[in-house]
Amino acid sequence: MKIALLGCGTVGSSVVQLLHEQAADLTARVGAPLELAGIAVRRPGRERPDLPVDPKLFTADALGLVKRDDVDVVIEVVGGIEPARTWLLEALGAGKSVVTANKALLAEDGAVLHDAAAQSGADLFYEASVAGAIPLLRPLRESLHGDRVTRVTGIVNGTTNFILSAMDATGQSFTEALEEATALGYAEADPTADVEGFDAAAKAAILASLAFHTRVTAADVHREGITDVTATDVASAKAMGCVIKLLCIASRVDDAVSVRVHPAMIPRTHPLAGVVDAFNAVYVEAEAAGQLMFYGRGAGGAPTASAVLGDLVAVARNRLTGSRAAKESAYADLRVRPIGEE
Ligand code: HSE
Repeated sequence: MKIALLGCGTVGSSVVQLLHEQAADLTARVGAPLELAGIAVRRPGRERPDLPVDPKLFTADALGLVKRDDVDVVIEVVGGIEPARTWLLEALGAGKSVVTANKALLAEDGAVLHDAAAQSGADLFYEASVAGAIPLLRPLRESLHGDRVTRVTGIVNGTTNFILSAMDATGQSFTEALEEATALGYAEADPTADVEGFDAAAKAAILASLAFHTRVTAADVHREGITDVTATDVASAKAMGCVIKLLCIASRVDDAVSVRVHPAMIPRTHPLAGVVDAFNAVYVEAEAAGQLMFYGRGAGGAPTASAVLGDLVAVARNRLTGSRAAKESAYADLRVRPIGEE
């Protein structure tokens, strides 16, 4: 089974490491060896002494790698809309299985990717795109298909959860807590996507699409970040026995869905209140199952690579057995309800 890896940053490097370290187990689980056909990176000549791979595998020609006849599976961990969309549509159009962590692309063009996969019969898996290591999308996509999900409430951004947890624990201001998150490597140099809620909105769109079998894009999500949350807000919430969290909330309302991301006060007794630091958790309510809680690490090289490899094993097995994952064909096409609509 030949794999093209697109991207070799934090997550891509962890994928390479795990593929190497767990080669024997993965071969046993899949029923065939998993072999890297190539790794597309911006600077193929750069020395990467820590990575256990032949330097000849690195290439700057991602599209050429995707098009190679011997490639069975394409793993994309680059992120962003283009050129990732072109690469993945090329792969799916040629019937290659795709595993991606690209939340921005799925939240904008998930329907286009799913249609391309449906047309060629290819698998499209993206467990790593939401909440890193937490097995969440496949439970929504498969295990809960016999049930009716009514609401999904999640803490899906680790950076903002770290900041809000620090504000709650120490009384720090937003700016002080952001500085601490940056110093510890949780927040990016440009934290806009996290603190303004864009990252969580993309994840909310993916979760809502899967939970309600419909098509929600990031642009449909009502979004508010945490930059206006003050130390006084946090202290007032505390005095009321509550904690402030940046929540994504997707719910089914009659013939529509409502999807939003904003800071919210929740009682300290709520299961999500105990989720602190950079952890993620998603609370799912379904008619028959009742309440379910998914909890774990939502970011980082190894946790995200764990989700990527889980998908890789699934799509590789499907290729070998000639089966494929549950199709995303039965869309309900629910309306997305604007916030404030009665
Ligand atoms: N910036 C994201 C977070 C990384 O803080 O959760 C994982 O998507």
